Amino acid sequence: MLGHHLRGKRILLIVSGGIAAYKSLDLVRRLRERNAAVRCVMTQSAEEFVTPLSLQALSEDKVYRALFSLTDESEMGHINLSRQADLVVIAPATANILAKMAGGIADDLATTLLLATDKDVLAAPAMNVRMWNHAATQANLATLKSRGVRFIGPNEGDMACGEYGPGRMAEPLEVVAAIEAYFGTDAPLAGRRALVTSGPTYEAIDPVRFIGNRSSGKQGHALAAALASAGAETTLVSGPTAEPAPAGVSVVRIESARQMLEACQAALPVDIAICAAAVADWRVASEAPQKLKKQEGGAPPSLSFAENPDILATLSHLNEGRPRLVIGFAAETENVVENAVAKRARKGCDWMLANDVSAGTGAFGGDANTMHLITPDGVEDWPRLTKRQIADRLAAQIAAHFRSLPA
Ligand code: C5P
Repeated sequence: MLGHHLRGKRILLIVSGGIAAYKSLDLVRRLRERNAAVRCVMTQSAEEFVTPLSLQALSEDKVYRALFSLTDESEMGHINLSRQADLVVIAPATANILAKMAGGIADDLATTLLLATDKDVLAAPAMNVRMWNHAATQANLATLKSRGVRFIGPNEGDMACGEYGPGRMAEPLEVVAAIEAYFGTDAPLAGRRALVTSGPTYEAIDPVRFIGNRSSGKQGHALAAALASAGAETTLVSGPTAEPAPAGVSVVRIESARQMLEACQAALPVDIAICAAAVADWRVASEAPQKLKKQEGGAPPSLSFAENPDILATLSHLNEGRPRLVIGFAAETENVVENAVAKRARKGCDWMLANDVSAGTGAFGGDANTMHLITPDGVEDWPRLTKRQIADRLAAQIAAHFRSLPA
């Protein structure tokens, strides 16, 4: 089946300039079919063979081009490009780019990125047979292999230049297979289904006004991305946020708490449910069907509230189809662990992640947080981590939990 093993994986694809660059178009398609996120970087000579527009359309992402542009650098520095990838793939890799890599030359975006990255690199060489057999190329290859660069191909066969021999770029599906092998076909949460809530809810006062909160959705979105990266088929039910949809995740956008509950129920059955949304406790009791008008000299309207459903408690108390692992969040300003332990019992969830959100901790809207994981086995204090690191750590712990359960 397509779709499982590369779900949510982030591939940074460098396309260098060879006739085989046409195969990179199909490679992007094959990777997208498997739910990988693909971001392309082209060398200047690659643009002689394929257009940035084709790669952009197929990858559904911006294409980064040979020369540095100040806008690109400020939006997405070359370091960030590789930081946001799980694997760097060079396809096709010309003799020239391999030589530059071996020599540590960084004279355009692609080679600078290759010198700066701390991610693994997989190269699919493509070149004329004599260039491939040349002592210089073979020496560069040996150097790169000794530094841990992985290779797929080249294959032997008829070449575009009319010669025969090794030098043809591996076929796109062979490159895909090498990428799948790199990530391991048994991703830790493969075959599991997960549901994550994220962001705030908006509770309408009338058709144009609402009551909301400051949740950024950063933690919830990071959790969905981490679960998908670990192989889980993930649904993210999110209130209004500025966060982009994570790769390989199905996103259901809602506004109110009641819509969030409905969307969560529609996503069942799942193995894992994580409630990271900041759900409004109350909604306006009777939403006005028309915009409320200011009356000259009149009194301001008074609002009365009704209680919203508690999504975490509802999922935790399902008699039928309860997720096997329900995880909640507790944002506290004092007695953090004590209050969270009590909240875990009250809500009926299995695990609770607790954090201190008092002023100055930067938990709200920030990128990092200090968490305590409360499980039936006790309390684990985590160091200060970024929200993505928290998400990856939780995903790893969830995977370990499922491994420990009887099949
Ligand atoms: O009760 P409190 O809002 O502090 O609980 C926080 C936890 O409960 C979070 O996991 C939050 O997503 C969840 N919650 C919910 N539905 C609500 C209120 C909170 O799922 N209506």
